[in-house]
Amino acid sequence: MNHVLLATDLDDTLVGDDDATYRLNEILNLLRKNEDLKLVYVTGRSLELFNELQNEKSLLIPDALITAIGTEVYIDGENIIDWPNVEGWDMGSMKAVLAQYPSLTLQAVTEQRKYKLSYFLKDDEQLAKQIRETLKDYPIDVSYSMGLYLDILPRGINKGSALKFLAEKWVIEPANIFACGDSGNDISMLSNSNAIIVGNAKSELLDWADIQSRYVYRAQGDYANGIIEGLSFYQIIK
Ligand code: GLC
Ligand code: MG
Repeated sequence: MNHVLLATDLDDTLVGDDDATYRLNEILNLLRKNEDLKLVYVTGRSLELFNELQNEKSLLIPDALITAIGTEVYIDGENIIDWPNVEGWDMGSMKAVLAQYPSLTLQAVTEQRKYKLSYFLKDDEQLAKQIRETLKDYPIDVSYSMGLYLDILPRGINKGSALKFLAEKWVIEPANIFACGDSGNDISMLSNSNAIIVGNAKSELLDWADIQSRYVYRAQGDYANGIIEGLSFYQIIK
């Protein structure tokens, strides 16, 4: 095996069942000792909230970390400054426009990033759609996930594009990339890799999987057990 990249979402994918995370960590430790495996965590969390989770769950140290839904990349703890390359991002003006919607509440200060503007919006697909329309002249994408998180990101910047940036940097082919996730904002990274959908995935991701023409692996097991199952299906482990 050479140059394999394993990218995994954290909340409700790698993390969710502590025993399963522990089991997977043991497997990954062994693989990383013997094989050329790069481990990448890909999360919506800021670096601050990632660090909290890392301490709480004793996660392995990854080779790279993609935070804030792909808007920040860290290798060996260092922020990679040539990612992303963004023009026309005007956070102040978008915030002013969105102030007209009282049901949007800003998330914590730590989750407002240089290239990520994040709100809470409870179960309102309709308003999420309207916000996309309101902001249509801005060079941005609006992501609405888990019926709660509304994130505004620079157009084309997401978990998938950040992962592609890393894979190109490390010269790893899409065929050797394995990505694991449970929710809608994982779609961008599952689209261009060997996808592993954990058993506890949200309906938004299952709906996406239903309409894919290529094969997408859906695990029976939840959380990290689903990842282990997927790695075994793709013959990364025996
Ligand atoms: C994480 C982030 C939050 C984001 C959410 C969904 O929970 O902390 O800011 O909205 O992921 O992407
Ligand atoms: Mg998740």
